[in-house]
Amino acid sequence: MANFSDLVQMRYSCRNYLPTKIDNSLIAQVLETAHFAPSATNAQPWRVLVLNTSESLAKARQAYNREWFATAPAVLLICAQTDKAWTRSDGKNHADIDIAILADHITLAAADMGLATCWVCNFDAKLISELFNLDVNCKPLVLLPIGVPATDEIPPKKRLALDDFVTYI
Ligand SMILES: Cc1cc2nc3c(=O)[nH]c(=O)nc-3n(C[C@H](O)[C@H](O)[C@H](O)COP(=O)(O)O)c2cc1C
Repeated sequence: MANFSDLVQMRYSCRNYLPTKIDNSLIAQVLETAHFAPSATNAQPWRVLVLNTSESLAKARQAYNREWFATAPAVLLICAQTDKAWTRSDGKNHADIDIAILADHITLAAADMGLATCWVCNFDAKLISELFNLDVNCKPLVLLPIGVPATDEIPPKKRLALDDFVTYI
């Protein structure tokens, strides 16, 4: 098990997976860890569809048609239940923030178990809603491929220097 600093640097957006099947029990372990994520008012306005059959994966691939994405043996469809999320008095619904925290916890929990992931938001959300018959209040936010990475190499992190975005006042 990696310490936290190592873990966040080990996690990267993997765009090449081995065909090794990922059991739902393994995915459940990842989700068990990740579901301790915080959320505004502890509303936990999330819904996760585990796409782990050829039929459900084919639907996801229709909505995000990339060669690399098709190498993923499983995909998590992470949705926000906007009607369950906390809304601030100025009208700001916090579902997106809550779901981002959950998704990030999932990526880190997966990395801790030697699995790789990649956030994907550039998919056809309307098509996903149709293909998976999602309720109008259930917004698909992230497609998260998960699997064994095809290579052990971790690409270097390209990040701003702290001085570029931190101000101490
Ligand atoms: C909200 C969000 C949306 C993203 N959407 C996509 C996407 O649609 N397709 C993709 O290939 N990568 C996507 N990424 C991955 C980013 O490109 C990646 O996180 C960034 O380049 C940093 O690289 P790293 O994750 O390897 O550290 C997304 C990441 C985030 C956080």
